[in-house]
Amino acid sequence: MHRYSWALAALGPVSSVVVSASPLAFRSPSYVSHQDRLDGVKEAFQRSWDGYYEYAFPNDSLKPISKTYDNDRNGWGASAVDAISTALIMENTEVVKQIVDHIKTINFNQTVEGAEQVSLFETTIRYLGGLVSAYDFLTGPFEGIVDQDSVDTILDQAVNLAELLSIAFDTPSGVPINDLVFNGPDGPVTTNEATNGIATIGTLILEWTRLSDLTGDDKYANLTRTGEDWLLNVKNPEVGEPYPGLIGTNVNVKDGTFADGRGGWNGGTDSFYEYLIKMYLYDSERFGVFKDRWIAAIDSSITYLASHPSNRPELTFLAAYNGAGPDKLNFVSSHLACFDGGNIILGGLTLDNEDYIKFGLELVNGCHETYLGTVTGIGPESFRWQDSKLTNASNNGAAPSDQAAFYAKNGYWITSSAYILRPEVVESYYYAYRATGDTKYQDWAWDAFLHINETCSAGVGFSAVTNVNAANGGSFYDSQESFWFAEVLKYSYLIQAGEAPYQVSADHNNEWVFNTEAHPVRVAGKPI
Ligand SMILES: *[C@@H]1O[C@H](CO)[C@@H](O)[C@H](O)[C@H]1NC(C)=O
Ligand SMILES: *[C@@H]1O[C@H](CO)[C@@H](O)[C@H](O)[C@H]1NC(C)=O
Ligand SMILES: *[C@@H]1O[C@H](CO)[C@@H](O)[C@H](O)[C@H]1NC(C)=O
Ligand SMILES: *[C@@H]1O[C@H](CO)[C@@H](O)[C@H](O)[C@H]1NC(C)=O
Ligand SMILES: *[C@@H]1O[C@H](CO)[C@@H](O)[C@H](O)[C@H]1NC(C)=O
Repeated sequence: MHRYSWALAALGPVSSVVVSASPLAFRSPSYVSHQDRLDGVKEAFQRSWDGYYEYAFPNDSLKPISKTYDNDRNGWGASAVDAISTALIMENTEVVKQIVDHIKTINFNQTVEGAEQVSLFETTIRYLGGLVSAYDFLTGPFEGIVDQDSVDTILDQAVNLAELLSIAFDTPSGVPINDLVFNGPDGPVTTNEATNGIATIGTLILEWTRLSDLTGDDKYANLTRTGEDWLLNVKNPEVGEPYPGLIGTNVNVKDGTFADGRGGWNGGTDSFYEYLIKMYLYDSERFGVFKDRWIAAIDSSITYLASHPSNRPELTFLAAYNGAGPDKLNFVSSHLACFDGGNIILGGLTLDNEDYIKFGLELVNGCHETYLGTVTGIGPESFRWQDSKLTNASNNGAAPSDQAAFYAKNGYWITSSAYILRPEVVESYYYAYRATGDTKYQDWAWDAFLHINETCSAGVGFSAVTNVNAANGGSFYDSQESFWFAEVLKYSYLIQAGEAPYQVSADHNNEWVFNTEAHPVRVAGKPI
């Protein structure tokens, strides 16, 4: 175990010295690095990779129990591309070279048979995000690990992919259509979907803007900005913006208006809010209005959505909504939504706002409780609770009788019991640790890792499980999602690791920002 002070990182490990180099008097944590834990996470990475490389590569994902593969991301080798930034951070040169060699061979013009439908969003966050991050890493902190020609090819491949995807934005409003079909005689075509969701529209701009900044061609940034502008300036707020800054889910591709006022921090809307503050961090000059919209969304979340379970009022979760008003709240949250604490902490650091950091830490604590409540020590896919104040309201029912005892003890009940190797809870621990230096968050992350390792180790890798509240996680889905490599293993590693330029720092001077798939890209703007 080494103790690092972030300001002295360049000098290597030091012992118990806390040095404040932060311009902010209130925040200058020191960090602890645990070699034994790092080795444990590396072992899990290597085991997952070896299983994938032997039985699935260059297909998308490993089915670890049947020892075969799945092409759930169009057959371009999703797990390989998604693993590259983690392999770099772990300094796993052999795996990095295997992935780089693969990237050179990908033909993005073609999808494999049976996997022709391409998601603009998933392809952007996993493939394009993986490629631009690899390029930033290999031209920055990891320069020299592979030859320059290979590095250049990575950027060329990112351009090839973006060119093919660009058709998605060819709509009357500029709001992209999410689902495309490749392999037609004339190249990709869009499907005829009439609406797109704010997460799939609003979680493109970081990757595409980075590509523009790396190539000097601003057309990629412009395409995503045009779509995003409809989300920043809601044309029909009476429908689409029930609370200031908190917006609906579905947007009409024809005219950019909102089709509903349903939303919150769960899947389908989540990463739209995440990217607002990340774009400001990426470049505060170009993305100032994104910061204003993020602040509005967070202030409204604190005022209208923060909710405490009736029997555990010390816990805080964020409610969902379907329109404005207490009777339109829906007391449901999810593993996906548990990134919220981390994102609000990052915003608090970026804006020097202690109240946001405090609120983010409360949410992190709530998500930790969802892990503490179950038999496996892993939190569920989704859960509900009864709000402590809206007594007897029709939208605030009690726990079902078979979950009443569980609710009485834990402050939530399970509505979907699966765990599919998602990262968000550990992701938020990571931001909490980087903001505070409180080693309790490292311990929470290590507990989570040990529980996941115990429950999800399966066959030649790791698998999603059906029931976090049953012995051994119920049964296996025989599925190892690519984000296991990109996210869970990365955040589990970084929170236990020493100082590095891409580690989140406890102030507003971050030089790297993580996309929603945990691929770090280099910040473009001047320090905030
Ligand atoms: C993770 O699980 C594997 C397989 O069961 C085991 O060999 C390894 O020691 C575990 N890692 C840790 C850190 O406990
Ligand atoms: C998937 O793996 C199989 C078996 O190794 C191989 O024949 C096939 O070409 C691979 N497909 C893709 C798209 O990589
Ligand atoms: C593949 O896609 C690229 C980028 O859109 C395009 O320039 C090229 O012509 C395509 N190649 C084939 C063989 O279709
Ligand atoms: C991108 O948008 C900027 C600002 O509106 C504009 O000046 C520029 O010409 C656009 N570039 C392209 C390639 O359309
Ligand atoms: C809620 O309902 C219960 C049972 O019907 C009743 O005893 C209680 O007074 C009600 N509380 C409020 C605040 O209306």
